[in-house]
Amino acid sequence: MNSIQDCYSLYNGVNVPCVAFGTWKMPDEVAEVSVACAIQNGYRHIDTALAYQNECGVGAGVRRSGVRRDELFLVSKLPNDDHGYEKAIAACERSLRNLGVDYLDAYLIHWPVLVENQDRLEEDLCNTWRAFERLYADGKLRAIGTSNFLEEHIELIKANFQNYPMINQVQMHPQNPQEEMVAYCQANRILPEAWSPLIQGQAFKRELLIETAAKYGVSVAQLCIRWIFQKGVVPVPKSTTPERIRNNADIFGFSISDEDMEKIATLRTYGMIGNPPSVPRTHQVVGF
Ligand SMILES: NC(=O)c1ccc[n+]([C@@H]2O[C@H](COP(=O)([O-])OP(=O)(O)OC[C@H]3O[C@@H](n4cnc5c(N)ncnc54)[C@H](OP(=O)(O)O)[C@@H]3O)[C@@H](O)[C@H]2O)c1
Repeated sequence: MNSIQDCYSLYNGVNVPCVAFGTWKMPDEVAEVSVACAIQNGYRHIDTALAYQNECGVGAGVRRSGVRRDELFLVSKLPNDDHGYEKAIAACERSLRNLGVDYLDAYLIHWPVLVENQDRLEEDLCNTWRAFERLYADGKLRAIGTSNFLEEHIELIKANFQNYPMINQVQMHPQNPQEEMVAYCQANRILPEAWSPLIQGQAFKRELLIETAAKYGVSVAQLCIRWIFQKGVVPVPKSTTPERIRNNADIFGFSISDEDMEKIATLRTYGMIGNPPSVPRTHQVVGF
């Protein structure tokens, strides 16, 4: 692959552009301008969620970009308190209305955990996934997937349904390399995606990343995004700054050596941001 418009193919044959554009923490007006800027600079894969409260702005940005809907890969996510069959169907319809589209390219269960009734997690995930299969069969979703799911959650769906998650979006960056999850996804033909690839800004403080980026003559952001791309994972960087939006997409003019790929992963000692997905969301502090 040598462009952000080059694609991975999901197990159902749907193509997914290899770099996405994140929109968390962008209010509607900012999302509209930033999404249009990203698309005009080549991004074709846009990531939002009902919980980001900016789907109207993201949809406006899509229209403002002038690029045809069918050339884009638009993703949203089901909020934690809309799990369950009826609620999931209604939440998806709400996202479609907010975005002003009649289908999503992918819809993800945002987190595997419930805000309440943790003991009913298995039943809840099955009811929710049943709604996803319904929406997929009805053509409202071209692909269905998950976010922040652990292996055990995906195995639960695999054991009970015909379709299992096609995508799993997880927190992944040099401080949380996710080797086991990436290997599991790739062995099961699930496309892994990396949220917070720039460690929500912490990447710019790490001496190892600053030195390695200088060695390749690139920015720290480009180094992190390329490092994720070289692992066969879709990076989802966010920026509201046009110059950074362009810089983050420009990752195809260099290649990180195997030795440096390994060295970058030694930052794992710093660990992930916030708590793992096994901790109920009510107790989480960072990350949506
Ligand atoms: N599935 C989930 O549970 C989940 C959780 C968290 C995030 N996500 C998704 O992943 C996306 C990315 O994660 P994130 O927003 O947490 O953080 P991130 O992409 O790791 O970092 C974003 C921060 O880095 C800055 N930045 C971006 N490019 C830069 C560059 N080239 N040079 C210097 N600074 C740069 C941005 O500033 P400016 O904006 O000011 O330029 C912003 O402060 C989200 O927007 C969302 O779509 C998903």
